[in-house]
Amino acid sequence: MIFGRVKPLDAILATAEKKGLHRSLGAFQLTMLGIGAVIGTGIFVLTSEAAQKAGPGMLLSFLVAGFICAVAALCYSELASMVPVSGSAYTYTYAVTGEILAWMVGWALILEYAVGASAVAVGWSNHAVGLLNGIGFHVPAAISNADALMAHMYLAFGAAPSPDLTQAMAVGGWVNVPAIIVVSFVTWLLIIGTTESARVNAVLVAIKITALTAFVALTIPVMKADNFNPFLPTGIGNPFSSSGLGVLGAAASIFFAYVGFDAVSTAAEETKNPQRNVPIGLIGSLAICTIFYLLVALGAAGAIGAQPVLGAAGEAVQPGSPAFVAACALPANAEMLVCSNEALAHVLRVVGHPQIGNALGTAALLALPSVILMMIFGQTRIFFVMARDGLLPEGLTKIHPKWKTPYIVTAATGIAVAIAGALFPVGQLADISNSGTLFAFFMVSIAVLVLRVKDPNRRRPFRTPLIWVFAPLSAFGCAFLFWNLPHDAKMVLPIWGGIGLLIYFAYGYRKSHLGRGVVEVHETDGDVPPPPVPPIS
Ligand code: ALA
Repeated sequence: MIFGRVKPLDAILATAEKKGLHRSLGAFQLTMLGIGAVIGTGIFVLTSEAAQKAGPGMLLSFLVAGFICAVAALCYSELASMVPVSGSAYTYTYAVTGEILAWMVGWALILEYAVGASAVAVGWSNHAVGLLNGIGFHVPAAISNADALMAHMYLAFGAAPSPDLTQAMAVGGWVNVPAIIVVSFVTWLLIIGTTESARVNAVLVAIKITALTAFVALTIPVMKADNFNPFLPTGIGNPFSSSGLGVLGAAASIFFAYVGFDAVSTAAEETKNPQRNVPIGLIGSLAICTIFYLLVALGAAGAIGAQPVLGAAGEAVQPGSPAFVAACALPANAEMLVCSNEALAHVLRVVGHPQIGNALGTAALLALPSVILMMIFGQTRIFFVMARDGLLPEGLTKIHPKWKTPYIVTAATGIAVAIAGALFPVGQLADISNSGTLFAFFMVSIAVLVLRVKDPNRRRPFRTPLIWVFAPLSAFGCAFLFWNLPHDAKMVLPIWGGIGLLIYFAYGYRKSHLGRGVVEVHETDGDVPPPPVPPIS
């Protein structure tokens, strides 16, 4: 009975105690890690995409996505304070709904963290290439993006040949080398140690906050009321037939800008006093980021406008589509926010601060690696816990004798992230990442409710306020945003999930420690060696 495989909470806490990681992080470092994971490609790059989908109405999109993340963060906080071990949504689901759903959540988290890290690496690459080109060092397209490869893949999978595909094959590249370089650097930082990584991260967070503060200070004073008119050029969006456009479509995409705060919970096992510090880290980092995002979106739209470019028939077109590329190629649209790859730096250049715009671009270049760092960090910790449970090969849990980090799983994750970043475009990676994240958030919102009913007396150092309002709102909000994602990104989740199920039944189902009766229980766990592992049937 696979649904019967629920791991007792006490056993989860005992396992963590026994094979645990070194506890070195405090509330401040956690909040910094949260901000490090959150502010990144979403605001620096995808603000243009949100504007194309919603116009100045993207302000509402930032609010909608931020609100859904806030209620999800409250649910995360309760679970993270009760179960302060690595693994985040995966671990909570294991304790509440059982192994198979936990595996599915852990599997979906790969989309969130690893694919998300790849998206940010590509965003970083765009900035790096833009700045290098700006100082006269031309990086060939062949090694700075994979657009030609993509176009070939479209054709291979049956797309009709078109002038846009032909053009992409002519001007696009084959592999994104800058993305590989940045991922390799971050992976090395993580392998040499969490504390060192957190210190580097704090400096990078300071750079990001300074850049966004400068942006707000320079754009808010030059806002023009006209730039908000029309405020909703693409409408709110039809909740029943998602076109991906409108306020709701933009909210589903810009959700990526908030992704990452939950990575704080994956560091619970390396945190001092996690019951207090994890909720502070989660909610604190999200609150700070939300305030910045609203001010930045207001400044960007108010300073230079945020109207979408239109296709031949006068309708707003999907960002990244061939019609969008064609519209942005028109000289008349060159300065539009929606056509920029470096949204915020572009706004500053247009309003007459080219040097500061370049400095902001450089800040993004320096700081985006902190986002990649946090996402790879989160991914490795989830793999670590899944391997510790026997659902992935246990060799992955090996801790390095000198650096005290799970170096094998970190290196393996780094390689996978580098490959995805080398071969795919940023927008697609971000939307795919969102689909996995929304599934995980949805499961956490359900898990927190189920646990309130099943185990009402367990100690909850942090209790989600108004849980019967906020948790259902969070679950509903996540499902709703998922529905508003572009069609392809939505389809990735069930396909990825199907592959995950095959792997589970081929490997994890047989090797699972819980399935084989190897469950460490707190009270009997002290000096007694673990029970012998029964032979695999
Ligand atoms: N929220 C992170 C970013 O925007 C993933 O880059």
